[in-house]
Amino acid sequence: MQRSSIIRTWNRNAADEEAMGAAHAPIWRRMIDVSIHEDLRQSTILDYGCNQGGFLRMLHDRHPFQSAVGIDIARESVARADLLKGYRPIEYKVGESAAALGRTFDFAFSHEVLYLLPDLAVHASDIKAALKPGGTYVAAMGCHKDSAVWPRWRKVIAETSSIPLYDHSLDSVAKAFSDAGFHVAVRPLDLDAFMPVTVGSEYFPKVVDQLRYYSQDKVLFRFVRAP
Ligand SMILES: C[S@@+](CC[C@H](N)C(=O)[O-])C[C@H]1O[C@@H](n2cnc3c(N)ncnc32)[C@H](O)[C@@H]1O
Repeated sequence: MQRSSIIRTWNRNAADEEAMGAAHAPIWRRMIDVSIHEDLRQSTILDYGCNQGGFLRMLHDRHPFQSAVGIDIARESVARADLLKGYRPIEYKVGESAAALGRTFDFAFSHEVLYLLPDLAVHASDIKAALKPGGTYVAAMGCHKDSAVWPRWRKVIAETSSIPLYDHSLDSVAKAFSDAGFHVAVRPLDLDAFMPVTVGSEYFPKVVDQLRYYSQDKVLFRFVRAP
């Protein structure tokens, strides 16, 4: 287990938690575009750290799947996800263990969750238990020690996160999943969208910081469980 505590919301500020989905939508779109090349109608999907559930809603609207589960430790966010899911075949659950769901998935995704997990080896083995043999986990990560903006972001995010942050490097992530027996691959997210520029942003003091982050620092790992 990573930790036993269930929280209300991840961001201490409820309005910022609410705004996070809209800010992440162009990134989710890119994750889907570069990861999914097949028909998902017979596939089962896990979103680890789903927050208000927007990733799975978007995925289903673009590539209808058989069923999906989103898990998160933030109970109010999970309740909101459940309200917003509409007709889609998705269950949202409060929890931190994918293995504890007691079922296996063809695909798993996470977006900006790894840096909130103290033990990557525990996470790798949890995801392994929840994936079918040959299943794929795509994890998006911009919050890591190798990012040029991390020293700044670490402080900014720590002020709003209701749980601790961890300084993982890309190499430590790759090692944890390789040690757990996954085939590990990586690529830049390489976002192909106009992203809004906020003059005076705490996250991107210069426009070039934003350009470098979305084209280079923010990566997608692909971990494939051996068949
Ligand atoms: C930065 S937010 C990203 C949320 C969402 N993936 C998105 O793209 O908007 C990180 C999320 O991970 C969740 N989280 C953190 N630690 C977790 C854990 N051990 N198990 C499940 N969810 C966790 C937080 O509650 C939060 O909702």
